[in-house]
Amino acid sequence: MTIDQILEANADKYEEELCELLRIPSVSADSTHAPDVRKAAKWVADQFTRLDFPTEIVETAGHPIVLASSPPVEGAPTVLVYGHYDVQPPDPLEEWISPPFEPTRRNGNIYARGATDDKGQMLTHIKSAEAWMAVEGKLPVNVKYIIEGEEEVGSAHLEQFIADNKQRLACDCVVVSDSSQFAAGQPAITYGLKGIAYFELRLHGPKQDLHSGTFGGAVTNPANTLCKMLAALSDEDGRVQLEGFYDDVTPLSENERAQFAELPFSDETFMTQLGIDGVTGESGYSTLERRWARPTYDINGLWSGYQGEGAKTVLPARAGAKLSFRLVPNQEPAKIAAALRAKIEELCPPGINWELKEFHSAHGVVVSLDSPYMKAAALAIEAGFGRAPVFIREGGSIPVVNTFKEILGVDTLLLGWGLDDDNTHSPNEKFSLADFHRGIKASAHLWQELAKI
Ligand code: BES
Ligand code: ZN
Repeated sequence: MTIDQILEANADKYEEELCELLRIPSVSADSTHAPDVRKAAKWVADQFTRLDFPTEIVETAGHPIVLASSPPVEGAPTVLVYGHYDVQPPDPLEEWISPPFEPTRRNGNIYARGATDDKGQMLTHIKSAEAWMAVEGKLPVNVKYIIEGEEEVGSAHLEQFIADNKQRLACDCVVVSDSSQFAAGQPAITYGLKGIAYFELRLHGPKQDLHSGTFGGAVTNPANTLCKMLAALSDEDGRVQLEGFYDDVTPLSENERAQFAELPFSDETFMTQLGIDGVTGESGYSTLERRWARPTYDINGLWSGYQGEGAKTVLPARAGAKLSFRLVPNQEPAKIAAALRAKIEELCPPGINWELKEFHSAHGVVVSLDSPYMKAAALAIEAGFGRAPVFIREGGSIPVVNTFKEILGVDTLLLGWGLDDDNTHSPNEKFSLADFHRGIKASAHLWQELAKI
């Protein structure tokens, strides 16, 4: 049997295995799920031990890292596959059509939390290795795997692990499938990701909630203040109002703008897909430019005052928000944090105390399009998906991509098998089963193409 034939013969088995992994609620952000996160690590490790790959579950101060490697092939390139087995919380649960951890097939998709991000995509690179082992008893290249359980909470322990294990992880390039195609039927290679700087801002006013009639207008209201502060962080033109925010931004080149403009994208279709009647953003830039290559600011959560039924005339004692800036290459998260502190200090009125907590951060990345690895990946995608990929950037962040560049000195091939409407991080996450199988095929061909380098 050829590899492609093995893939076809085993398609149902691969889907069943994906369902097994999807049934494990490995929510890294929720400590009550820590045993499930561990169970998912074990499940992934078992996949490798079944192939007789040397495998290790490495403990960290957080969730474990799974490491494995294919049989050594003298003189062939070494590829490091990165993926994550943790998932985002499934909330809001009531909006799921089928329960998040009971994978369900509908319209050619598999619905479950983690289906596309990243269990389904990650698994493609294990199943492709399994097929090679079944047919050839080895892979044509050296493949090392590093599959972590903390990506969705900022990969806090991964950087140190990579720094401490440089030799063990040494490779010629990294492969990550944790992003999307350009559109259904149009595969893509992503050559740029945004970075991020994430914060929680808390405002404290009077020592307890007050009657808004008795005290309103005389006592500074933390909710009013929070709204003003958050609104002051960007202007009418969608420009972020932090000192020096744009100083280090790498501008889009005319060439790149022309390439984005050539992609088949329309604001109208985009709006219809999202159920919105207009788009806004930094003036002077197209929707794709804003989404892929310009820094942005978003409030991710907001709370204060009375949330229950009916009205309650209260002047709340506290208000808070979670907010983040998506960054582009060359912007420094620490500088953004300092500028944000200065801005809050400047905006904070008498009667309010503020507190700013810094969460995870990551640098934006752009990888070289001009490498033999890119060319190999493009050929593999064409073999798997029946169509040559387009080259895109994305607005999401995968913090470790920058770490691989800094510490291991290698570029990452971002080969996304997902779709923009996969509902990542939101209810009814899905992954196209056809794309799951195409991804496995592309991966199997990738080993072959890389072996020719
Ligand atoms: N798979 C995503 C990253 C992604 C999303 C890449 C869309 C390309 C397009 C990843 O799992 C993720 O969500 N990352 C977080 C990182 C954060 C927690 C530091 C993100 O982007 O919010
Ligand atoms: Zn992911």
